[in-house]
Amino acid sequence: MSGLSFKKRIIKAARLFVLRKLKFGIVDYRNINMVNGPGLLEDVMQVYKGDRFLQGIEELYNIHNIVRATGHLKGAIAEVGVYKGGTAKLIALGKGARELHLFDSFEGMIKVSGSTDRHAKGDFADSRIEDVKRYLSGFEGIYFHKGWFPETASPVLEMKISFSLVHLDVDLYQSTKDALEFFPPRMVPGGVILSHDYNSVSCPGVKKAFDEFSSRTGKTVFELGGTSQCMVVF
Ligand SMILES: C[S@@+](CC[C@H](N)C(=O)[O-])C[C@H]1O[C@@H](n2cnc3c(N)ncnc32)[C@H](O)[C@@H]1O
Repeated sequence: MSGLSFKKRIIKAARLFVLRKLKFGIVDYRNINMVNGPGLLEDVMQVYKGDRFLQGIEELYNIHNIVRATGHLKGAIAEVGVYKGGTAKLIALGKGARELHLFDSFEGMIKVSGSTDRHAKGDFADSRIEDVKRYLSGFEGIYFHKGWFPETASPVLEMKISFSLVHLDVDLYQSTKDALEFFPPRMVPGGVILSHDYNSVSCPGVKKAFDEFSSRTGKTVFELGGTSQCMVVF
């Protein structure tokens, strides 16, 4: 089974090529590294040079910055939407002693809603949990929850885990909606939910779920300019 259609693979490859050729000239990395301290640049580049992430370099910076910015908080980190572990590795590099709970089917998109989602069943099916475990084997405190979220959330409920950071990268309306029902009551004060694809035309369900969450709760959804990301602070 292949995770992405041929057309999507070509678009992804072209995007990576353009990013790699052009973006180093746009962002002043020395300055970012000075501002954020040693380590950030190296961590981002370690993941960026790999072939497992699906996000732009500014988005990787934002993830790593927010991992570090929430480092003083008590509470675990969760990622829903792990695929091959690209962004999970970036989080693991900056998480310190915090637990990292990783939720994914590790079999790609199992349920999609035809009316909202642009992804098809079976997209991202080329990830294997054994491979992701191997990729992240150098880190302590990583817990895998294989299956369709939130059906896989019972260990978190039983252990009464609270979260300092949740990274969502699920692309789908219902998955985002479910995560925005499950995690908010479990966030510590100052904790952050960060999501990819809030502004992506290919994932309209993410914006829809966040905007509904904002209307329902009054919480502000911050768009992170120049990227597709958004975040909510608790
Ligand atoms: C875009 S990929 C994640 C990419 C990854 N964060 C990265 O950049 O390295 C989306 C993933 O979300 C997963 N996914 C979406 N909804 C899910 C759900 N409700 N439960 C489990 N996995 C889900 C899919 O299986 C897929 O692997």
